[in-house]
Amino acid sequence: MWHELRKNDQETAGIDPFVSVTIWGMSLPEFAPSSRIRLLSWAMLWLTVSVVVGGALVRATDSGAGCGESWPICGGQIIPSIGNYHTAIEVSHRLMTGLLGIVLISLFVLVRRDFNKEHRLRRATFAAGILLVVESLLGASLVLFGWVEFDASIARLIVVPFHLLNTFLLVGAMALVAFFASGGGAFRVNFQRTRDRLVVLGLGVVLLIGATGALNALADTLIQSDALRIAEPDEFLVTEPVLRQIRSIHPFVAIVGGLGLYMLVRYLLVGASKEVRWLGMGIQGIVWLQFVVGLVNVALEVPLETQLLHLFVADVLWILFVLLGAHLLAGAKKRHEHPVSEMT
Ligand code: HEM
Repeated sequence: MWHELRKNDQETAGIDPFVSVTIWGMSLPEFAPSSRIRLLSWAMLWLTVSVVVGGALVRATDSGAGCGESWPICGGQIIPSIGNYHTAIEVSHRLMTGLLGIVLISLFVLVRRDFNKEHRLRRATFAAGILLVVESLLGASLVLFGWVEFDASIARLIVVPFHLLNTFLLVGAMALVAFFASGGGAFRVNFQRTRDRLVVLGLGVVLLIGATGALNALADTLIQSDALRIAEPDEFLVTEPVLRQIRSIHPFVAIVGGLGLYMLVRYLLVGASKEVRWLGMGIQGIVWLQFVVGLVNVALEVPLETQLLHLFVADVLWILFVLLGAHLLAGAKKRHEHPVSEMT
């Protein structure tokens, strides 16, 4: 009878009633995120990655001005006429960004309805929302200050790596939303523990590699364009020799950092569960794959296809490392550990 009542409550609240937990041999029904929330959060994560790669496509094909200066409408029209591929790419990117916003708001509403303020899933969804707003503001500031197309100012060189850092933090927050929505336990970083320190170090290494990669991509875009040749000499503009030097930083940082990451994961996997082992081996494989894609990228002088593939693989590596860290930090705690008390 009690079971039936709880189940009905759960169904009305959109909670998956079929998750159960065993305590002292008794099987009790448990409040876990519904499969709807779970599915939506994973869909949101991969949609975010698509938007990030789509953003790189806009940059690499110079399609940022594909809609002229009108926003959010395109070329002054609500339903734009797609005259060329620049407009098609820019419109698709805007549509995907809009869809991401809608998915995030829907998820936020569902999570807010089912979980109280203190719940980790609600906090992670909120953090993802804030990072998405910051990401949009950063994107808007690039346009506002003219740090687009062939602008070779020092200011742009400083802002671009920060933009990538925020992008990675956003993707990381989305990965945590998906982790918690799949029943991942709460965690706290304890800097007294070596394992926790190594997880934070690994996250920092991936961010550093990514930030230098973003600088490399910008340097490539500027060197490939005629901007540096036609620009007036100015102390605030970066010159071609400097850009060429900048391009040598990322491969070096990536190879040293990637090997370090490989060893670090090896250490973290000692005594780990099967699930964590799979994640760790995935990361190690992706480090090698990314080395190959990076080298091919350089050898072929950064064609569009390998640029996009390299960024996609970097995102996957980051997501796997965030999930590995979350699994390790949440440790052996039981999944769905305090849901009943956290329900509204
Ligand atoms: C763990 C390994 C690596 C990671 C995580 C990584 C990550 C990244 C990221 C995030 C970008 C920025 C992409 C963008 O903003 O469009 C990038 C760009 C780049 N990376 Fe890597 N990278 C790695 C290894 C390498 C290696 C080994 C090389 C070469 C030897 C390399 C060469 C490049 C080049 C040439 C670019 C600029 C591509 C462009 O012009 O769009 N990367 N990398």
